[in-house]
Amino acid sequence: MERTNKLIAMACLIALAAACTRQPAEKASALMAHEDEIARLIDQMTLEEKVNMLHGKHMFSSAGVERLGIADMEYADGPFGIREEMEPHSWNSLGLANDSATFFPTGSALAATWSEELAYRYGEGMGKEARLRGKDMILGPAINIQRLPNGGRTYEYLSEDPVLSAALAVKYTLGTQDNGVAVCLKHYALNNQEDYRGTVDVRVSPRAMHEIYLPPFEAAVREADAYGVMAAYNKVEGDWCSENEMLLGRILRQQWGFRGMVISDWGGTHSTVKAVTSGLNVEMPGQRYLGQALLDSVRAGAVDETIVDERVREILRVRLAIKPIPAGEANLRMTSQPEQQRIAYDVAVNAIVLLKNDAGLLPIDKANVKRVAVIGDNAVRPQSLGGVGAGVKALYEVTPLEGITDRLQGSGIDIKWAQGYPYYTKRDRETRVSPYTNTPDPALMAEAVELARASDLVIFVGGDNREVETEGSDRPSIALPLGQDELLRELALANPNLVTVFVTGGPLDLRAAQQVSRAMLISWFNGSEGGHALGDVLTGAATPSGKLPFSFPLKLEDVPAYSLGVYPQQNPRKQDDVFVNLVGNRREAAPSDGPVADYAEDLLVGYRWYDTRQVPVLYPFGHGLSYTTFGYSDLRAKADGKGLDIEFCLANTGSREGEEVVQLYVARPDSKLVRPLKELKGFRRVALQPGEKKSVRLRVPLERLRHWDEFAEDWAVEPGEAEVLIGSSSQDIRLTQKITITMD
Ligand code: BGC
Repeated sequence: MERTNKLIAMACLIALAAACTRQPAEKASALMAHEDEIARLIDQMTLEEKVNMLHGKHMFSSAGVERLGIADMEYADGPFGIREEMEPHSWNSLGLANDSATFFPTGSALAATWSEELAYRYGEGMGKEARLRGKDMILGPAINIQRLPNGGRTYEYLSEDPVLSAALAVKYTLGTQDNGVAVCLKHYALNNQEDYRGTVDVRVSPRAMHEIYLPPFEAAVREADAYGVMAAYNKVEGDWCSENEMLLGRILRQQWGFRGMVISDWGGTHSTVKAVTSGLNVEMPGQRYLGQALLDSVRAGAVDETIVDERVREILRVRLAIKPIPAGEANLRMTSQPEQQRIAYDVAVNAIVLLKNDAGLLPIDKANVKRVAVIGDNAVRPQSLGGVGAGVKALYEVTPLEGITDRLQGSGIDIKWAQGYPYYTKRDRETRVSPYTNTPDPALMAEAVELARASDLVIFVGGDNREVETEGSDRPSIALPLGQDELLRELALANPNLVTVFVTGGPLDLRAAQQVSRAMLISWFNGSEGGHALGDVLTGAATPSGKLPFSFPLKLEDVPAYSLGVYPQQNPRKQDDVFVNLVGNRREAAPSDGPVADYAEDLLVGYRWYDTRQVPVLYPFGHGLSYTTFGYSDLRAKADGKGLDIEFCLANTGSREGEEVVQLYVARPDSKLVRPLKELKGFRRVALQPGEKKSVRLRVPLERLRHWDEFAEDWAVEPGEAEVLIGSSSQDIRLTQKITITMD
């Protein structure tokens, strides 16, 4: 078996050898503009001054050299709002009056817009607020692939798909850096789970790593000249990310030409010599390894001073590319500004996903609905803070109930709220009360059912909250927490006009909810303006247009890593040293002394798995309905040796204006390689008035059709037959055409 695989692989190698393609040369990084000045500065620095730049000074800053006019680097947590000011050496807030920021919709919400334009504006908004606060670098965007629906930070990340994630990461980066602030792409790399995140050792095939997990980082470096990268907590192939020569040296700096600086995740540095020689620039936030220990290592000859110079040079490139803001000029105005609040609204309203809408229950029929029951704790719960880590001290946050009430004002409709299910608190999380064992609270349920019975329409706002989805641990379940399934069954019996709205950043098991809901929406952790956006979608002031950036599996056991038994890690001290991936390659790997995350599903992440293995899902990747309808016709696809040119006609066939996200997938049924059934290769958001038609053109560059050739250790393109599939979701394909991929 192994032999056969090797033979097939060899045959492919020969067939494809001529087709190996490297990325075209990139334009020079803006970071290279001050090399002479940097050399002069380094010449004047003492060893102590150099080493002093390579570790944290305060919780969110690292030192410059005052004597030489080199300012400190000031960091601000992103990725979805500028974090408040902290005390210099603790996680405690400084309690400033002016540091309340705009809370932007979290990562998966941004991705649900499938809008590069909004990603740019989002990055721009983050950059502008960071400048008001005197920050040089935003710790974001967070662009790991959503491998696990229940991953603790799935809500922060963008998508399960690399093409969608990469496109948005590029625009976020450009938006931020065009506004004079550096990004810090995080968490590099393969930080796809929070359980054991500080010890887990990821084993992944080179092909899956290059094709699935690295593209968002690669694209943001190569196409957007990202200035900063944060090394993740975990290990990859035996080495911590903060001292991983393959990730930091070979891939990031050599293959991608990264010229900027790498900082460790907070507390994620593990060595002195190995870290600094592999390419770590700054240990954050302390100086256990890159402080005195580094000085000693240089003096003892274990680290050559030229390596320290190189690390300093990389920091100075960023320092000189970003204009420092003197402390006296920071925090003069409130961080959150109306311009950014507008961006938060635009992202939020385009992110909401309409999963189902039986018999057009939505938008709310204002002529006939007189009494609306809004039920659920999440209807009144702000989501800007919570969990461990990433949070935003928001200037304000419009809750769903406030947004609905505001948008129905003057309509004569009476709105009443009932809590329905209990609030899962920070204390519950800290004392390890499970949100999944709770049965409904009888008193809260009775009150809600009573209200539902006395109303014309019920809007249930449930899902997770920021204590359920949290950094530091994965969700043990994707069930609706806190007895919500049972509550929903009772509500539907009391009043079948049930609209369910789920506040979440990742997939939920909505099988029971779907059966009793006539309409169903995902409204995310949707930022400061989330309530207004929801009110506008429910009342029809806005037409829903978000599409799922990940699949909604039927149940957790269907998730690839679960069904292959490689997650959750059964034995945290497993010592496997041989891995066989789906492509059939046996790889020997260094034994690990911690838990191992074996990415056995290989390329088949998310819809790639469900499609290829024919595993049914509740809602597929890319799904999202509208209040209007769209017609697709006249596909013309051409391959020209440099990529694909696709053109088709999109028409708004309904009676309302709306926006459709068209999706382009490519299938390679005759490929000699193991491949997913189809893969996203392009997308576009298109706005249409009722009756309007537009010709949509999509270009797929040849690089996007490449695969990672594990034997050549390089990219290659396989010429031959392919199918272009144009759809409204990954499973709602409207147009197909066969083409032949050729090379120049
Ligand atoms: C997180 C990072 C974050 C850092 C600083 C870490 O725990 O993983 O994403 O930027 O803390 O708050």
